[in-house]
Amino acid sequence: MELCVALDLPTQEENLALVAALQSYNIWLKVGLRSYIRDGKAFIDAINAVNPDFKIFLDLKLYDIPNTMADAAESIMNLHVDMFNVHASAGTKAMQTLMRRLESYENRPLVLAVTALTSFDEAGFKAVYGSDIAHKAEQFAIDAYESGLDGVVCSVLESAAIKAATHSRFATLTPGIRPFGEAANDQERVATVAMADAAKVDFIVVGRPIYQAKNPAAVVEKILAQLSE
Ligand code: C5P
Repeated sequence: MELCVALDLPTQEENLALVAALQSYNIWLKVGLRSYIRDGKAFIDAINAVNPDFKIFLDLKLYDIPNTMADAAESIMNLHVDMFNVHASAGTKAMQTLMRRLESYENRPLVLAVTALTSFDEAGFKAVYGSDIAHKAEQFAIDAYESGLDGVVCSVLESAAIKAATHSRFATLTPGIRPFGEAANDQERVATVAMADAAKVDFIVVGRPIYQAKNPAAVVEKILAQLSE
């Protein structure tokens, strides 16, 4: 299991200070909507300048018509990130069109599909998707798997069932991690590192419990120590 730290701080300077504090660790860094809209490609280049070995996950959750999503994916190729994501609810045609467009690239990034956002509770999810989370997340994962994607974003609670319904090597990436039981904030379906480990999750995403800590590097070290147990 690998650790991915969310760079969701209010300014690029604060994000880069966090990156610098974590430069010696073998981790992924997640560049999400806030940071990418504000700081763009220059931010990704600045991360690589700190340490080119950092793996970067561009969390923009693409959702549009198939051709527009495939065009966006081709533009992402110029950013040289290692992973990006789309919404599974954009549909199989969109996911297949995008994957076909990336076929000609030798070193394409991993492509994941968002199933159910971890901020949804059952009632909120049903109001939008007309189904319970477990059932729909599994169907979205099967759609993504059959469309040739590399994995899904889901909660720890759905990870094992998704792997059983697709393939053990079909990756799961789980936000909503409160490593040692910290405050859930706006996340509903939260889990600890130990729970993620037991569910055979491939990547855990941790934001606030790291960047709001007094000593983020100490929290990262504690998580990495648990991952290597
Ligand atoms: O601060 P926290 O650990 O809750 O951060 C979780 C990160 O994962 C945020 O950047 C959020 O946008 C992202 N995310 C999520 N749920 C998803 C997909 C991404 O919380 N389904």
